[in-house]
Amino acid sequence: MRGPHLLVHGDALATLADLPAGEALDLVYLDPPYGVGAVMAMRERPGEARGRRHRTSGRAAYVDGRDVDALLAMLEPVLAGCRDRMSETASLYLHMDWRAVHEAKVTADRVFGRRAFVGEVIWTPGNGSRGARGFAVTHQTLLVYARDDRKRARHRVDHPLLREPYAPTSREMHFTKVDADGRTFRERVVAGKTYRYYADEGRRLGSVWTDIPAMTANTPLRREATGYPTQKPERLLERIVRATTLEGDTVADPMCGSGTTLLVAARLGRRFIGGDASAVAIETARRRLDAAGVAYQAR
Ligand SMILES: C[S@@+](CC[C@H](N)C(=O)[O-])C[C@H]1O[C@@H](n2cnc3c(N)ncnc32)[C@H](O)[C@@H]1O
Repeated sequence: MRGPHLLVHGDALATLADLPAGEALDLVYLDPPYGVGAVMAMRERPGEARGRRHRTSGRAAYVDGRDVDALLAMLEPVLAGCRDRMSETASLYLHMDWRAVHEAKVTADRVFGRRAFVGEVIWTPGNGSRGARGFAVTHQTLLVYARDDRKRARHRVDHPLLREPYAPTSREMHFTKVDADGRTFRERVVAGKTYRYYADEGRRLGSVWTDIPAMTANTPLRREATGYPTQKPERLLERIVRATTLEGDTVADPMCGSGTTLLVAARLGRRFIGGDASAVAIETARRRLDAAGVAYQAR
């Protein structure tokens, strides 16, 4: 590990600028406000409502303003600050929703260059649909960038969380051979070389993720729920951290909210650098890390 875990109360730009020279980030997860136009509030007591603030809400956690231009103006230098700190094999995930993701893509392309755009993940939180017009919105988007060239970004596929079952039709059509242990497989010959694929190993995970319900992070019935608005499920971050980093690597989340990324990174043997501008976020993240017995430096 390249130093102690670090949690900073402050603006993302300052958190990044204050890192010692030579600090290299191997993964950045950035989950900013989405341009909702609301004060986002906590649920801390039974009966309180979490999310957009209204009559029964708990304490305000942060403001998610409606002005997308202001959001992008805030994001652009943060993205540039992240890029300047990323290691050669690093990835950055920018998590947004339909309101501003398209303009954020243009902004991020400007910062990283189009060659650095690795792709996008569509995540369906499964917590109901949104929007009064057109098709109800049931997904969020994560834009993935490499430091400057997508070919250099690390991507691992060697964990069950990073694989999914083959489609039943594909299994039926292609997986027709059985080895001495009774495992079904198919073989493909590419450029004169034979590759064997086992049905039970599944295939490389695709870019549409429907198997991680947001509910796990947001219902008070579940252990991981902190009551923080827009808290993301630990499983979502576990997938991202496992896919793009190795043990001992540094994972940064300068808008960490309730600290989901930080907790997951620590649990998986990665070092974290986290920060948030909201005092309520920092208090929530600290409570969560302390409860898990994670030691860190706080600034
Ligand atoms: C969508 S929430 C993050 C939720 C988090 N991923 C979680 O799992 O709890 C967005 C966070 O960005 C923080 N934020 C907004 N602008 C910021 C800035 N300029 N610098 C640092 N944090 C900021 C907010 O306080 C809020 O906690």
